[in-house]
Amino acid sequence: MSALSGRCVVLGVTGGIAAYKAVEVCRRLVGEGAHVVPVLTAGALRMVGETTFSALASEPAITSLWNDRSGPIPHTAAGQRADAVVVCPATARLISDLRNGRSGDVLTATLLATRAPVVLAPAMHTEMWEQPSVQENLAVLTQRGVTMVGPSEGPLAGGDSGPGRMAEPDEIVAAVEAVLTVPDLAGTRVLVTSGGTREPIDAVRFVGNRSSGKQGAAVAEEAAARGAEVVLVTTQSERAAGIPARVVVVETAAEMAAVVELEAPRADVVVMAAAVADFRPAQPSGTKLKKDRGVPAVELEPTADILAALGASKGSGQVLVGFAAETEDIESNAVAKLRSKNLDVIVANDVSKEHVGFGHDTNEIVMFTADGARHHVPLTTKREAARAVLDVAVSLMGSAGDRDTTDSRERP
Ligand code: CTP
Repeated sequence: MSALSGRCVVLGVTGGIAAYKAVEVCRRLVGEGAHVVPVLTAGALRMVGETTFSALASEPAITSLWNDRSGPIPHTAAGQRADAVVVCPATARLISDLRNGRSGDVLTATLLATRAPVVLAPAMHTEMWEQPSVQENLAVLTQRGVTMVGPSEGPLAGGDSGPGRMAEPDEIVAAVEAVLTVPDLAGTRVLVTSGGTREPIDAVRFVGNRSSGKQGAAVAEEAAARGAEVVLVTTQSERAAGIPARVVVVETAAEMAAVVELEAPRADVVVMAAAVADFRPAQPSGTKLKKDRGVPAVELEPTADILAALGASKGSGQVLVGFAAETEDIESNAVAKLRSKNLDVIVANDVSKEHVGFGHDTNEIVMFTADGARHHVPLTTKREAARAVLDVAVSLMGSAGDRDTTDSRERP
C-alpha cells in the first residue's frame, strides 16, 4: 500500500504560472489513494479553474475563508484533518507569509492551523529565487522542519530560463509520500539481491534469464525510504541508479554468493529477489567459441543455492525473505521452498500471468510466512509490492528465530 493511501492531503495552490502542474499533482495523489482537499488562493484562481480541482480531488475546492461550503472555519477544518499539506507552486509571498506566521488568506490560515508535515514546491523567477530575503525565509522554514522539493533549473514563464522552475509532479508526490512514510526500518540493515545472474559460456556469451531486477530495486528503494541502511547486490547496475543504497554489482551466481556470504551476517533483513541461475556451464571458454569449429555441447553444472545456505546458517532474529517465480502449483511450490530453505517469508508470483514478474513494472504476489500466514497483493506496482513485502518483514522482526537482545550491528 502506498504511504498516501487513505491519508488526507491538503493540496494548496497559489498564483504562480506552474499552478497548471498542480492539476496533475492532484490527479496523482488521488490515484495513490489519498483523500485530497484542494485549497486555492485568489491568485491560483486566476491561473487555474476551481472546477478542475473540484472535479479531480476528493472534495470541492476551498477558495475562501468566507462563505465557503465547508463551514464557517474552513481553514481549521482542513488543517486539523490533514495528514500532510503540500503547496505547489509555493510563491515568494506564500513562503514569506508562512515564515512570518501571517494568515491573510485561506491557504496561509490553513498552514497555520495544522500540525501536519508541510511540503513546499517553490516556483518563481530566478531573480526572485535568488533574493537573499527569499533564501533566508526558505532556510528558516527548512530549519523548522518544512520539506522543500525543487525548484529545478529550466524554462520559466515569459520565455526566461534558469533556477526557479517548479519540481515535476512525480517529484512532488514522492516528497509528500516521503513525509508520510513511517521510518520503521530506521537503525536496521537490509540486504537485497536483484536481477538475473549471467553464467558465461565463453568470452562473449552467457546463460541468463529474463529477470529485470526491477522488483529487487523497488525493495531496496522502499527499505531506504523507511530508514534502513541498504546493501543492494545486483546484476543490473542501471536499475540501481539513484537508490540510496550501497550497491555491489555482480555478474554470476558465484560472485553474488561471495558478496552475500560476506554481507548477510550483519543484516537484520535479507531479501533474495535475484533470479539466481540454478545451472552454469561447467567449462566456460576464456575465448569466443568459433562457429567453424562446430556446434559446442555445453555441459551444465549446478550453482550453489545462496538462499538455502543463508537459511541453514540464519542468524538469530534475522528475517529471511525468498522469492519464488512459478508457472504452476504456486502455493505448494512456494511453501515447499519456504520450508526447505528455512525462510521466514516466501514471495511467490505466477510469472505465466500477464503483467506479472519478469520485466514488468507491475507484479501480483502471494506471501507465505513460516507461521502459516498468507498475504495476497493483487496486481499493483512493484513499489507497492515492495512495501507489502517489507510490511510483512517488519511484522516478523523480533519474532523471527530466537531474536537476541544485542544490537544486530554488533554481530560478527
Ligand atoms: N536462489 C538462490 N540461489 C540459487 C537459486 C535460487 O539463492 N542458486 C533463491 C532465489 O533468489 C529465490 C529463491 O531461491 O529467492 C527461489 O528461487 P527459484 O529459482 O524460484 O527456486 P529454486 O530453489 O531455484 O527452485 P526451482 O528453480 O526448481 O523452482
